[in-house]
Amino acid sequence: MKKFRIAVYPGDGIGPEVTTQAIRILRAVQAKQNQWSLDLTEFPWGVAYFRETGLVAPENYAEVLRPFDAILLGALGWPDEVPDHVSLAPLITLRQRFDQYACMRPAKLLPGVKCVLADKGPADIDMVVIRENSEGEYVDNGGRIRRGTPDEFAVQTAIHTRKGIERILRFGFEVARTRSHRMTMITKSNALKHGYVLWDDVLDEIAPEYADVTTDKQHADAAAMNMVRRPESFDVVVASNLFGDILTDLAGVIAGGLGLAPSTNTNPERTFPSMFEPVHGSAPDIAGKGIANPIAAIQSAAMMLEWLGLTDGAAVIHAAIENTLAAGHRTPDLGGTLTTSEMGDAIVGQV
Ligand code: NAI
Ligand code: MG
Repeated sequence: MKKFRIAVYPGDGIGPEVTTQAIRILRAVQAKQNQWSLDLTEFPWGVAYFRETGLVAPENYAEVLRPFDAILLGALGWPDEVPDHVSLAPLITLRQRFDQYACMRPAKLLPGVKCVLADKGPADIDMVVIRENSEGEYVDNGGRIRRGTPDEFAVQTAIHTRKGIERILRFGFEVARTRSHRMTMITKSNALKHGYVLWDDVLDEIAPEYADVTTDKQHADAAAMNMVRRPESFDVVVASNLFGDILTDLAGVIAGGLGLAPSTNTNPERTFPSMFEPVHGSAPDIAGKGIANPIAAIQSAAMMLEWLGLTDGAAVIHAAIENTLAAGHRTPDLGGTLTTSEMGDAIVGQV
């Protein structure tokens, strides 16, 4: 019996609501397969913890999470009580401390889900966007000078390292080899001629090692247009931190919306635990109403099983979700009336 230690960090708002359903499905698949087991430890960190302690998580949260095989995260943030840069700090810190430099966001339109694009269906939308998660535009590098004066200015400088670019491109090539052997790299090297020309150079240098993968380069603005105009032309997409952030909202919405979009924060070398979470946040507007769609969290749990090598378990979850949607079950975000737990019931029923 293979055993894995999983840290569960449900977080705030709808985070705990959707995570509860993800755990139900994991337990159902574990019971059905009976070949592996997950030892789940829950950490009740977030705004409730803040009310008691003045901190959203204990100071040593990274050390606490370090020994686990993976982290299953719900969502963080409750802006009415705690500023976002405080409540989301553990998430940002964990991505960096655990060198989770590859953020994988599949965007696959499932049969029966309405597409916002006219005349596009499941055959057209099936891509995985890999976002560089450790550097680029999101490094904390800059400052504000002459604050509050008419001459105030801000400097915010992106960092693109050869090592960082090479490792995310290699990761993309490996993912492309498991799919249709096509990879599109997104830059803006026509205008940002230092950072993004380095991306072009590194791609040109390493692409010959992956001669079985066809590569294509697009600028971020053109890629946004093409994702709407001909989404079928994308399979594996590799993008910098900023462009990946923007394009995954677009990819997420054309694949059915945030309620369905999963994400990883992967440390490919497995030196540190990887973290699995829905793309969406804590959705304060619907929190507590029991109507959040749990599918994004459940898909993220399936990606965690895949990462742990439990591909059969992941396949059971993917099939259960597809069958549930094909049978017409819908939460309000998809135009239906099911509650979060009723959607969980429907999916458990398909396991
Ligand atoms: P959000 O993703 O929480 O919500 C955006 C919209 O999508 C809302 O109308 C919400 O009701 C809807 N939505 C999201 N997930 C849904 C689901 N599973 N089912 C049905 N509808 C869903 O983004 P927002 O409102 O910008 O941020 C809210 C809080 O979440 C903020 O504190 C923000 O900082 C935080 N946040 C946290 C993230 C994380 O933990 N990884 C990611 C994004 C935002
Ligand atoms: Mg985003």
